[in-house]
Amino acid sequence: MQSLFPIEIDSAEAMKAFGAKLSNQLSSGDILALIGDLGAGKTHLTQGIAEALGRTDAVTSPTFSLVNEYTDCSPELIHFDWYRMDSPEELLAIGWEDYLDRDAILVIEWPDRFPEMIPPASHCIHIEHTPTGRHLSYALA
Ligand SMILES: Nc1ncnc2c1ncn2[C@@H]1O[C@H](COP(=O)(O)OP(=O)(O)OP(=O)(O)O)[C@@H](O)[C@H]1O
Ligand SMILES: [Mg+2]
Repeated sequence: MQSLFPIEIDSAEAMKAFGAKLSNQLSSGDILALIGDLGAGKTHLTQGIAEALGRTDAVTSPTFSLVNEYTDCSPELIHFDWYRMDSPEELLAIGWEDYLDRDAILVIEWPDRFPEMIPPASHCIHIEHTPTGRHLSYALA
């Protein structure tokens, strides 16, 4: 996966396409932490991954949720958004430890809210705004 970075991505569509490319490098048990400001493109990247893994429900729910489970994906994809979580306790309350045991890929937006909850050896992607789009870089947690 590391060899795909760093990369400049200049549109939302290209972000989704890159997510599809990333999906080839992911397997069940992998954790992907997406670090970037509001509007960085974390959700678009995740949508690209989900679609490449076989997500069929094209309709996005209008209601905000802390976690979306794409069980029609193979492997299953579980998409978290920690932005509106107030504490690690809230994360534990929605079953974080059970999710870690699932045969699934976990993608997390706003992992920097609770960095101590990110397991070692998770894949971290940093997304930064540039004048023309986004700069993506990779690090291990
Ligand atoms: N690589 C890119 N280049 C230019 N625009 C992009 C890129 N990726 C996403 N966008 C645009 O940025 C906006 C925000 O995208 P997105 O919702 O995926 O961001 P996010 O990081 O999930 O934001 P939030 O922190 O609010 O959840 C959208 O309008 C999208 O079209
Ligand atoms: Mg988002």
